[in-house]
Amino acid sequence: MHEWISRRFFIAGLSVLGLGAPELFGKPAISTVPQIRPGAVWADTAGKPINAHGGGMLFHDGTYYWYGEIKQGKTYLPKVNASWGGTRVDVVGVSCYSSTDLLHWENRGNVLPAVTNDPKSDLDPKKVLERPKVVYNAKTKKFVLWFHSDSVNYAAARCGVAVSDTPTGPFKYLGNFRPNVGQWPVDVTDADKADAQSQLVKDFPVGQMARDLTVFVDDDAKAYLVAASEGNPTLQISELSDDYLKTTGKYIRVFKGRSMEAPTVFKRNGKYYMINSGCTAWEPNAARSAVADSIWGPWTELGNPCQGDKADITFQSQSTYVLPVAGKPDTFIFMADRWNKDNLSDSRYIWLPITFTPDGKPEIRWQDQWSLQ
Ligand code: DGJ
Repeated sequence: MHEWISRRFFIAGLSVLGLGAPELFGKPAISTVPQIRPGAVWADTAGKPINAHGGGMLFHDGTYYWYGEIKQGKTYLPKVNASWGGTRVDVVGVSCYSSTDLLHWENRGNVLPAVTNDPKSDLDPKKVLERPKVVYNAKTKKFVLWFHSDSVNYAAARCGVAVSDTPTGPFKYLGNFRPNVGQWPVDVTDADKADAQSQLVKDFPVGQMARDLTVFVDDDAKAYLVAASEGNPTLQISELSDDYLKTTGKYIRVFKGRSMEAPTVFKRNGKYYMINSGCTAWEPNAARSAVADSIWGPWTELGNPCQGDKADITFQSQSTYVLPVAGKPDTFIFMADRWNKDNLSDSRYIWLPITFTPDGKPEIRWQDQWSLQ
């Protein structure tokens, strides 16, 4: 579609929804190139606000697929005897949107819907389904969806896995599990093993906790799960099996006691990077960045990559994914969620370019609008 026509259609669609052009296009238009507008309402090609939170991207055969949590309603504290708990929101499912330009997104539907007729199901609305990430396995030709699967009070702390023959699903749910049952991390010490009160030791027989998570596929096709573990203070990086469906038992503990959530991993010039958040529920905090020569570490923290006003709260957002843009060398987009816990579907998307200092430190600066061109 001609750009001008599609823009008119886009504005018209928003007006129909009552969102109004002024909010989106409040600043004078200075470019005919469609812009990424961090924090604005972002409508899909049907004119409806995109609902894909805590999500991730897959680039496959020239198309980007954006997977995320479908959020509805407001957060609430569950009425259960919570040994660990926080406010939650009911599960609806995993959305999928597709695009070839990262700007115009077509809704491809709910690819892993909640199961509403079986309270025992892991996909029951009263459970937790967060931070879905989809990777493609070239050997099995399957699309594999990993997500944080949890009980109503966030005490189960498990990984859910689903699989599909196509990027747009439907995904078949395979089950949830705790990674690395009966396995010590590669960096374990005798003192770690002897610390009976530690979560690592307590979870040794039942598997390690996994809450906020991401999956990273390396250039050699090896994949890794990165998950907030041990009650959240420590991230664990686990190797995945060749089919990407489970963990192999090889894992390492990183950023011990630093309480990082919302992990993102990317690779640049042979080095591995993470940009993660701190751990403050739905409230924003200062992002952290880190670099390593190997996924197995050692990881060196590089501080908050955000610069300028509101950098201390990641421009009021929380990381969810870093996208290396296909065909554009050295172009990475930091993707984050501006949670609105009183109206979660209205949580906004913060996408900003990442730049690097000469010594390789990532930096993120606020821009009201920007274009990949
Ligand atoms: C922070 C996490 O990053 C989110 O995914 C969500 O689990 C909230 N905590 C819940 O409080």
